[in-house]
Amino acid sequence: MTIMNIVLTPSTESHKSDPLYRQIADAIEQQITSGELSAGHKLPTHRALAEQLKVTVGTVTRAYAEAERRELVEARVGAGTFVCQKDSPSWVYNYSAQEEEACNLGHNIPPCIDRAEMLKEAMDNLSRHPDQLNQMMLYHDPQGLEPHRRVIAHWLQTKGLDIDPERMHFSSGGQHAVQLILSAFCRQGDTLLVEQVTYPGFLSLARQQQVSVKPVELDHEGIIPASLEAACRQYQPRMLYCTPTLQNPTTATMGEQRRNEILAICRRYQVLLVEDDVNGLLPQQRPAPMLNLDPELVIHIGGLSKCLAPGLRLGYIQVPQNLQQRLNTALHNHSLMISPLLTGLACELIQKGDADRVLQQIHHDISLRQQLVSKHLGKFAIQHTPDSFHVWLTLPEYWRLSDFVSAAEQQGVIIKSAEMFTPPGATIPPAVRLAISAPFTHKKLEQGLLILAELLQKDPMNDFAL
Ligand SMILES: Cc1ncc(COP(=O)(O)O)c(C=O)c1O
Repeated sequence: MTIMNIVLTPSTESHKSDPLYRQIADAIEQQITSGELSAGHKLPTHRALAEQLKVTVGTVTRAYAEAERRELVEARVGAGTFVCQKDSPSWVYNYSAQEEEACNLGHNIPPCIDRAEMLKEAMDNLSRHPDQLNQMMLYHDPQGLEPHRRVIAHWLQTKGLDIDPERMHFSSGGQHAVQLILSAFCRQGDTLLVEQVTYPGFLSLARQQQVSVKPVELDHEGIIPASLEAACRQYQPRMLYCTPTLQNPTTATMGEQRRNEILAICRRYQVLLVEDDVNGLLPQQRPAPMLNLDPELVIHIGGLSKCLAPGLRLGYIQVPQNLQQRLNTALHNHSLMISPLLTGLACELIQKGDADRVLQQIHHDISLRQQLVSKHLGKFAIQHTPDSFHVWLTLPEYWRLSDFVSAAEQQGVIIKSAEMFTPPGATIPPAVRLAISAPFTHKKLEQGLLILAELLQKDPMNDFAL
């Protein structure tokens, strides 16, 4: 760890000095100007510098933010804070250094993986085809360029998905795919069925589209057939939205028989089944996607956000043949098309084997993180699998949901309450979702898990460890 040569002048009654954070930022600037700190040099962590200078971590965080504002240093996700290269372009974006502070288990994102080198190579490869680049800069059919669809569909086929390049459409990620589906196939006032706890992004879009959502009960395998059948009879819904593989938030995966039972009910009541498969490539093995079982009933949504990079914003949709034209029109109305530059980049990453390599790294990293979960939370009521980004934790009865979420937050651990996943009018289960892939390091994750384990042991009313 670097020791920085910084001397601070504290304020006294007779002498008012600059705030400490500014003094630290000035010292960094001075050392860069004098050559003591060179481009690419890694600065100490917030905590280490705070200890060295006997100031709070918050002061160092503010000092580094000030140094970033002056374009002296940059914070790199998961790696630390570095002295900027002299030729940094003016558009550089530096991820917030806040991660040093909190253990954020809020967002279901892939674990932090360095993708810079593979992206650079992919972009270099694209740049070798100026004619193609020029063509990518034109308007094209909303469905996406046929050669790009072919490459991506073929890769998905190797993962066991019956995606047809003639039928698939690209979207700007899974969320955009959901939005397209709702606007193409639902009308204001329609009723849709959803899992009793479900992806909040869907609930939010449904509210915006003014469609009504009704919950269907779940067990450890996802939707319970009898509950679906009862809801179909009662509401005559237009569609069922569900996540059969690694359900968000419960991690449940439907077995083959359950999938067939759910499809049979949807067929019987003429309900379209939307299969949200954004987590579908995460398990090493899984039952056949619903799409494969009935492509004329299933609307399939997937994307590269969880298995490659959310920043690529690339998703895909395949709908039954008779709905194809309506989807095409919806995409045209929304955004005319998805940028071919992005689909071209994804093709490069797939063809060079980078997408598979990232997926393998994700598998490996997630299984280690899930082992930490078993170690620290194993004795509590958790649902998780070795390949899911998240964990569903049912609280002991002595904890009220909102109290637990606040108590965790007060100790710097951010988690999501079941309330966010529950459709209006449905009962909120006493549970929270932990997105264990989100902290940049395993150490940070483990700190958060230890805090949660300690809280779970305590009855807040009596405030002693049980
Ligand atoms: C079930 C589900 N669907 C869709 C999405 C959105 O995916 P994307 O980031 O590709 O828009 C998410 C994101 O977490 C999700 O959990």
